[in-house]
Amino acid sequence: MTRVRVRPVRARLGRSTARFAAAAAMLVAGCFAGVSAAGPALADGSTLQAAAAESGRYFGTAIAAGRMSDSQYMTIANREFNMITAENEMKMDATEPSRGQFNFSAGDQIANWAIQNNKRVRGHALAWHSQQPSWMQSMEGSALRTAMLNHIAGVAGHYKGKIYAWDVVNEAFEDGSSGARRNSNLQRTGNDWIEAAFRAARSADPNAKLCYNDYNTDNWNHAKTQAVYNMVRDFKARGVPIDCVGFQAHFNSGNPVPSNYHVTLQNFADLGVDVQITELDIAGSGTSQAEQFRGVTQACMAVTRCTGITVWGVRDTDSWRASDTPLLFDGSGNKKLAYSYVLDQLNTADGGSTTPPAGSCTVTVAKTESWGDRFNTVFTVSGTNNWRVLIRTGSGQSLQNSWNATVSGTSGTLTATPNGNGNQFGITLYTGGNTSTPTASCTAV
Ligand code: G3I
Repeated sequence: MTRVRVRPVRARLGRSTARFAAAAAMLVAGCFAGVSAAGPALADGSTLQAAAAESGRYFGTAIAAGRMSDSQYMTIANREFNMITAENEMKMDATEPSRGQFNFSAGDQIANWAIQNNKRVRGHALAWHSQQPSWMQSMEGSALRTAMLNHIAGVAGHYKGKIYAWDVVNEAFEDGSSGARRNSNLQRTGNDWIEAAFRAARSADPNAKLCYNDYNTDNWNHAKTQAVYNMVRDFKARGVPIDCVGFQAHFNSGNPVPSNYHVTLQNFADLGVDVQITELDIAGSGTSQAEQFRGVTQACMAVTRCTGITVWGVRDTDSWRASDTPLLFDGSGNKKLAYSYVLDQLNTADGGSTTPPAGSCTVTVAKTESWGDRFNTVFTVSGTNNWRVLIRTGSGQSLQNSWNATVSGTSGTLTATPNGNGNQFGITLYTGGNTSTPTASCTAV
């Protein structure tokens, strides 16, 4: 790939609304399918961390303590990345192998190396159904709740002041269409276990950003994505201390990068949280893999509050799923095509939306005709012609029809965007026994 070196980074600040809309439209239009995303003017970040820093973002990797004696591994890690996650060393089993007896030696090894090399640290993970120490696996109820809170206090307290962001709770929702919480021993301590974990983390390390982290939450239309979104929305409404949402982003052919990825990231960001890609890896090789990496990078850069991307390992052979060759360096430490695509995307002027979209908008909601099983609602947007309206339907309601806008989703939160028919659009909802009027919010894009 040819890269032209031009103007200094800061010259790129101050992009127009139109450019943001164009970037978003390009994603929707199928950038992942191979449409070139190259922008006209490229800058000079020659490593992932330098290129990401140009738009105020970080580029990180997971590090395994057991590989820190491998000089090739450490050389690449030091050169390319400025955010470090311990792949396993800060998890519950590693940090509290016996109840009340903490062991931070491997976690410290990683955190200290990162800090000594001017990198920041993402903490992973304080509370999770998996990789619990054996003494915890057999616990239930209030004893487990107490043990979880003690664990969070002990680990987040130990690392106080050293962690940029903690994955406070990891993978708490079911896969599939239920949208339910995962049935785990932690969940069985009571539905408030997640917020209890966040409050404990806040009091242990008040300056760390606190994230909820999960996988299969990339496609906006998936039930799991909606369920996590609803939880975060509820947390923000009730003042539960949450600052960010992590999208693990483990992709393969059965779970490819969705074309609406930037919509997902933007909708979460609109709740008032940062979003981060936390464990990126994409099975595959060559151009197809590289284009998907580029698509993820582009999606993050299209969202102002997407603060950074972390890949889950350095070389393919370091990956938890090495046979998928899912990373940016091959087993010999060579840069793969995917590396070039990511670097170029980070350096692409059009890719980095560091300015929020200009303008604001409002939307009014009016319920109109109704029949036995369904009713119409009309939405009128004012303030901008480039908008996204999130519609909250009532419990049991589902979309039957829409007009004068593109509407995605069927129940829960629907997303409406202009389709060239002006600023008034409508939907027909099946009542499902619930005739309440939906609510809506507008974002200028
Ligand atoms: O350290 C032991 C070693 O002593 C032993 O010889 C060897 C063989 O059994 O196992 C080693 O431990 C393994 C550990 O990785 C370190 O390599 C564990 O068995 C293995 O289960 C563990 O896998 C980790 C996995 O989480 C566990 O759930 C992966 O490295 C790690 O990449 C992966 O990371 C998770 C994130 O935390 C959350 N999101 C999904 C992601 C991928 O599964």
